[in-house]
Amino acid sequence: MQPPSACPCRGCIPWQGILLAVSLLTFWNPQPTAQLTIEPVPVDAAEGTDVLLLAHNASENVVGYTWFKGDITDSRHQIVSYSILTQTATPGTAFSGRETIYPNGSLLFVNVTQEDTGSYTLQTTRNDFSNEVATGEFRVHEKLLKPYITSNNSQPVESEDSIALTCEPETKYTTYLWWINNQRIPDGDRQELSNDTRTLILFNVTRNDTGLYVCEARNPVSFNQSDPLALNISYGPDTPIINPTDTHFRPGTNLSLFCYADSYPPAQYSWFFNGSPLESTQTLLVPNISTNNSGSYMCVANNSVTGLSRSTTKIITVSEPVTRPQLIASNTTVAEQDSVRLTCISNDTEISIRWIFKGKPLQLTERMNLSSNDSILTISPVKREDDGEYQCEVSNPINSNRSNTLRLAVTYVPDPEPGLSDGAIAGIVIGAVAGVALIAGLVYFLFFRKTGGASDQHDLTEHKPSASNHSRGPSDLSPDKVDEVAYSSLNFNVQQPKQPTSATSLSPTHRENIYSEVKKK
Ligand SMILES: *[C@@H]1O[C@H](CO)[C@@H](O)[C@H](O)[C@H]1NC(C)=O
Ligand SMILES: *[C@@H]1O[C@H](CO)[C@@H](O)[C@H](O)[C@H]1NC(C)=O
Ligand SMILES: *[C@@H]1O[C@H](CO)[C@@H](O)[C@H](O)[C@H]1NC(C)=O
Ligand SMILES: *[C@@H]1O[C@H](CO)[C@@H](O)[C@H](O)[C@H]1NC(C)=O
Ligand SMILES: *[C@@H]1O[C@H](CO)[C@@H](O)[C@H](O)[C@H]1NC(C)=O
Ligand SMILES: *[C@@H]1O[C@H](CO)[C@@H](O)[C@H](O)[C@H]1NC(C)=O
Ligand SMILES: *[C@@H]1O[C@H](CO)[C@@H](O)[C@H](O)[C@H]1NC(C)=O
Ligand SMILES: *[C@@H]1O[C@H](CO)[C@@H](O)[C@H](O)[C@H]1NC(C)=O
Ligand SMILES: *[C@@H]1O[C@H](CO)[C@@H](O)[C@H](O)[C@H]1NC(C)=O
Ligand SMILES: *[C@@H]1O[C@H](CO)[C@@H](O)[C@H](O)[C@H]1NC(C)=O
Ligand SMILES: *[C@@H]1O[C@H](CO)[C@@H](O)[C@H](O)[C@H]1NC(C)=O
Ligand SMILES: *[C@@H]1O[C@H](CO)[C@@H](O)[C@H](O)[C@H]1NC(C)=O
Repeated sequence: MQPPSACPCRGCIPWQGILLAVSLLTFWNPQPTAQLTIEPVPVDAAEGTDVLLLAHNASENVVGYTWFKGDITDSRHQIVSYSILTQTATPGTAFSGRETIYPNGSLLFVNVTQEDTGSYTLQTTRNDFSNEVATGEFRVHEKLLKPYITSNNSQPVESEDSIALTCEPETKYTTYLWWINNQRIPDGDRQELSNDTRTLILFNVTRNDTGLYVCEARNPVSFNQSDPLALNISYGPDTPIINPTDTHFRPGTNLSLFCYADSYPPAQYSWFFNGSPLESTQTLLVPNISTNNSGSYMCVANNSVTGLSRSTTKIITVSEPVTRPQLIASNTTVAEQDSVRLTCISNDTEISIRWIFKGKPLQLTERMNLSSNDSILTISPVKREDDGEYQCEVSNPINSNRSNTLRLAVTYVPDPEPGLSDGAIAGIVIGAVAGVALIAGLVYFLFFRKTGGASDQHDLTEHKPSASNHSRGPSDLSPDKVDEVAYSSLNFNVQQPKQPTSATSLSPTHRENIYSEVKKK
């Protein structure tokens, strides 16, 4: 059979070319849709699997098929050809031994390799020697091996370094996903993925970037995850903290100070007392301390990787517990209007003093005066309410201690027998007048309610029309409690400023006011 490349049209005289063109046109025009197509199954294949290139819609008068590698019909790339007449396949120069052609024109590839990736062209030959050509394409992907992460910085330091993490190895048609501590990494301010997603850049790392990093490689046929990479960001030390936080200790105790500073790698610690070096341990132990051990204790934390040092100083005072103070008075019996001086005597220094009166903290009045160190309390003039028991309490950060109880007696001339003061008399007089006015008002009101209620109500409705519903009812004689309350609130609002005026000129509203007040009581 003649190979298709030996097309009869090559070098033909023009009328033959026209004839061929006409024949091609007459073939294509009636069946424009029934066109030869190639369908690769699958389009994305895993290495070592099989791919079938299906030939669809080959015309019925086909007598031969020829497959080429690539998208050209060049005999140098011919894989195989098949003659329907002889039912024989003829391998071409590009035949690898893994291809099988079927009588329907489809081509099977077995055990595909990545080199098989590409396009393939089928040329059919009809019994009229005309040709039809179609191209299909498939890709072969390797089964992804376990990827691994490389970092361009083995010892990144906080706030100094930016790191690039790369998922290796690079493979074609592969996308990469990243996880930190099992969470997908979003594109953040300080994180950026390269366009091929294979490189994760962490800008200006912080300790918070410490964690387990995993990358995953994906292609259309497989995926695989890397082992986690532990990314340790060196940082710190932060400012050390010394425990316990107490600053005062009793002599004879064992002082134990623990220093801690957040740091990676862990910090080295050293101690200084008043500037002189002590031990290079994290915990400082000073047994059986005395007042000589009072002073400044400094803990220095150092990180050899970041090269940073931070320190904290703690002032420690070793002091004796305070002893009981003694409270004395200039005179324990004083007359009202005289003055008295109470003195709190303590042998301790660096103390604070608190005064106690009748078991409670003393409330200082303007008649009382404390000396600058609170040890002397002067009361001048003394009043009878100052009579009672006094104590003073001294304290330092170790403990506190209360003095003896001192009883201060205040003598005074008793008040005259319960005679009436001017104020009391005035009160009684006002009360009596008010009582009379009240009764007069009540009488007047009841009388007026019976005779001239209409005008009264008119007055009210002027003040507050909404309240008129109550009093306009047909049963004027049954003013229930609700009505009275409504009146009272109304009158209070209106008449309040006039309240203190004399009760002699009672207006109707005034009477209402007083009446309702009585009802309320
Ligand atoms: C074959 O051609 C018919 C029309 O003649 C069309 O409907 C069909 O989709 C084609 N098949 C393929 C696989 O191209
Ligand atoms: C061609 O033949 C092969 C093998 O018999 C078959 O798998 C394939 O489906 C056929 N192609 C078409 C387009 O029918
Ligand atoms: C598939 O091809 C590879 C080389 O590409 C070969 O090592 C392997 O043996 C082949 N497998 C089969 C089943 O032919
Ligand atoms: C990942 O790759 C390893 C070999 O590197 C392989 O043993 C493993 O099966 C692969 N995992 C997956 C899910 O493909
Ligand atoms: C890195 O971050 C730290 C604080 O997180 C900041 O002080 C420093 O200026 C930053 N450096 C750069 C180069 O952005
Ligand atoms: C690592 O990569 C980042 C981002 O490209 C770069 O800023 C940094 O300087 C690199 N570090 C080293 C040690 O090369
Ligand atoms: C990544 O893609 C963006 C646009 O998508 C482009 O602006 C940028 O230059 C690309 N970067 C690299 C390194 O290719
Ligand atoms: C780390 O994260 C914590 C909590 O989210 C935050 O308080 C802290 O400021 C972060 N540290 C740095 C150095 O970014
Ligand atoms: C990070 O720290 C962990 C534990 O703290 C350690 O197991 C790991 O080896 C460290 N990784 C690196 C890269 O130093
Ligand atoms: C202080 O430490 C010593 C040992 O160094 C121990 O014998 C003693 O009991 C400790 N004293 C107190 C109060 O813990
Ligand atoms: C103060 O000390 C002296 C002598 O040491 C002692 O006599 C006196 O009782 C002490 N006073 C108090 C209030 O403890
Ligand atoms: C104490 O005060 C009383 C009365 O004010 C007086 O009689 C007495 O002499 C005073 N005693 C002393 C020691 O001052």
